[in-house]
Amino acid sequence: QTDIFEVDPLSDNRKLYVRAAEALAAGALVGIPTETVYGLGADALNPDAVAKIFEVKGRPSFDPLIIHVHHGKEIEKYTNIPEELWELVHTLASKFWPGPLTMVLPKADIIPDIVTSGLPTVAVRVSAHPAMRGVAKALGRPVAAPSANRFGHISPTSASAVEKELGGSIEMILDAGACSEGLESTIVRPIVDDKGKPALELLREGPVTREQFRNMVKVIRRKPSSCPVSEAAPADAPGQLASHYAPRKPMILLEPGMEFTPVEGVRYGLLSYEGTSDLAQEGNWAEVVAMSPGSGRLAEAAVRLFALMRQMDENGAIDVIVAEPVPEAGLGRAIMDRLRRASAARE
Ligand code: TXA
Ligand code: MG
Repeated sequence: QTDIFEVDPLSDNRKLYVRAAEALAAGALVGIPTETVYGLGADALNPDAVAKIFEVKGRPSFDPLIIHVHHGKEIEKYTNIPEELWELVHTLASKFWPGPLTMVLPKADIIPDIVTSGLPTVAVRVSAHPAMRGVAKALGRPVAAPSANRFGHISPTSASAVEKELGGSIEMILDAGACSEGLESTIVRPIVDDKGKPALELLREGPVTREQFRNMVKVIRRKPSSCPVSEAAPADAPGQLASHYAPRKPMILLEPGMEFTPVEGVRYGLLSYEGTSDLAQEGNWAEVVAMSPGSGRLAEAAVRLFALMRQMDENGAIDVIVAEPVPEAGLGRAIMDRLRRASAARE
């Protein structure tokens, strides 16, 4: 019922993007690749189509969506950038777009409230993936797209993962193979700080690291709320749910220095960083997988993380997933953020 179409890396795929845009214009949902994770796209200006995103994902209505535009100049149509932030926004756009950076900006009236969960701001990005840009351009409107997984689950980094999550309940999936980043975009909110200077609130760690903003602008880390966001407080860090990006099986993250004490009779799988640690070599594991086998490269770990979490979730020989920490600098911060949420207490 869900058609899967391959994106040909050697052609411009224009017909395919037009076909996907026609489906979106008719109010349907389409799985669309980006460089970070696959998105579940809808026409952002059609509230009924956007409502289907929440329904199909099982996503609470207070968790707002990101809109994807095909070019940075489009944001002037969909946001109202305050005068004081104009320079910062344009600097960020020219440096990081197209790419894995999402900016939260005051929204224009044309963006339906359902997209932003009633917030006065909208999250917007220009993906580096030609498929997402091509579909948005063919549609002539922004594509609202959260990650194409059921709410709270692991984000999909391949078309087959999208099919496993949502197959049967969406119109089509564009298959462009594995995502090149593997982690959801970095989310920032440009603000004016208490001294009247432009600054950035970092709402979600991602492929654009806070080190990359250094020397450009002051970064304020927004503390993730420990309790889930409620309908009563939508403005307080939406999407910062403690448990997120989670496999179905229990997962334990070994924070640096933490000892692992297995429970008798439980079958453990190890999600290792390099696969070479004493723990990986000596433990009694049902399966050991390495994020960056032998070489400890954070970019490789990021690309493989979600696919490996899925693999361990599907392995019938494992009851509990144990994850080793990665070095918490640069991209390692985003990886540790996802591992912490995947292993956080569930409701
Ligand atoms: O890489 C990505 O960002 C992927 C691809 C598909 O673009 N999308 C993605 O969307 O991760 P989603 O919905 O899974 O996560 C978007 C996050 C949510 O946690 C949401 O709460 C936050 O963005 N968000 C959206 N609009 C916001 C707003 N106006 N203010 C604060 N946070 C917002
Ligand atoms: Mg998501």
